[in-house]
Amino acid sequence: MKRRLEGKVAIVTGGGSGIGEAISKKFAAEGASVVVCGLPSDPVRKVVDEIQASGGKAIGYLGDVSIEDSAEACVQLALDDFGKLDILINNAGVFPATAELDKYPVEAFEYMIKNNIYTAFMMSRAALPHLQKTKGNIVSAGSEAGQMGSPMITPYGGTKAWVMTFSRGLAVEQAKHGVRVNCVGPGPIDTAWTHKETGPMDSKMEKNTVNGVPLGRRGTPEEVANVYLFLASDEASYVTGATYFVDGGVTLSKSLSGEEVPAHLKQQPAGDLHLNHGKEGHAKIRKEATGTMTV
Ligand SMILES: NC(=O)c1ccc[n+]([C@@H]2O[C@H](COP(=O)([O-])OP(=O)(O)OC[C@H]3O[C@@H](n4cnc5c(N)ncnc54)[C@H](O)[C@@H]3O)[C@@H](O)[C@H]2O)c1
Repeated sequence: MKRRLEGKVAIVTGGGSGIGEAISKKFAAEGASVVVCGLPSDPVRKVVDEIQASGGKAIGYLGDVSIEDSAEACVQLALDDFGKLDILINNAGVFPATAELDKYPVEAFEYMIKNNIYTAFMMSRAALPHLQKTKGNIVSAGSEAGQMGSPMITPYGGTKAWVMTFSRGLAVEQAKHGVRVNCVGPGPIDTAWTHKETGPMDSKMEKNTVNGVPLGRRGTPEEVANVYLFLASDEASYVTGATYFVDGGVTLSKSLSGEEVPAHLKQQPAGDLHLNHGKEGHAKIRKEATGTMTV
């Protein structure tokens, strides 16, 4: 059977760890030649070696792709080594802090603007002329937090909302060139970010984050990579401007925030109207005459 990305060339930003590692390995296993892109301190070299050791094609690019020259050099590496570019995966991102907004470090906000927003802008901008030639596609990392907003990480959610809205606009703009653009919206995934030992969540936030998921657990990086694979492949030829949530249902169900509100703030306001029928509404099937009546 033909592999699903046979003959394709893909760049995966943030490909050295977490979800990006899974995307890089999944794509290579499905026949793509992969440029695994990451910051100099990321384990990019190891991911490339592991892909090659299992018979796949990969090369590493170490650089900060929020910077224009570096993004262009990353795209150029794909062209020089593999001859073309079919797929750009904008997966790079950071999650540096959790705090209520009045205490949220300005530095962490700026860090996210740079690494979550500039990366997607610079890479998409550099890649588009080449994706137009191959009728390729872009898939970017949105988030459940970008759709709904999330307490304690409000600026992070905002950066992901930017990615998701940017992608929708780009999908419409680039359709005439034959380029598709989509997003994946992960819920809490089993990477460094969602464990108190390795990320900025404390134990309470970690517990609520996982317990808020209807499926009752974190997703795995591979489960997320499966959806990237579909969207990046020709099987998704009629899918553009979409966000596919891979979130265990959490975007729909988010529901634990009320537990945090102290009792004195839970009092309902008394109001001024004299309301007597508040509990007499239509809450079960009724057998009554149809028609119009005036009383
Ligand atoms: N883990 C989750 O629960 C979760 C949930 C929703 C969305 N996401 C999104 O998925 C993506 C991957 O998250 P992850 O959990 O695998 O995190 P991760 O930290 O393991 O992977 C992100 C990688 O991107 C790299 N990176 C950051 N800025 C870069 C830059 N300027 N240039 C090059 N590389 C850069 C990082 O160094 C890191 O290796 C992120 O965009 C994130 O917003 C993750």
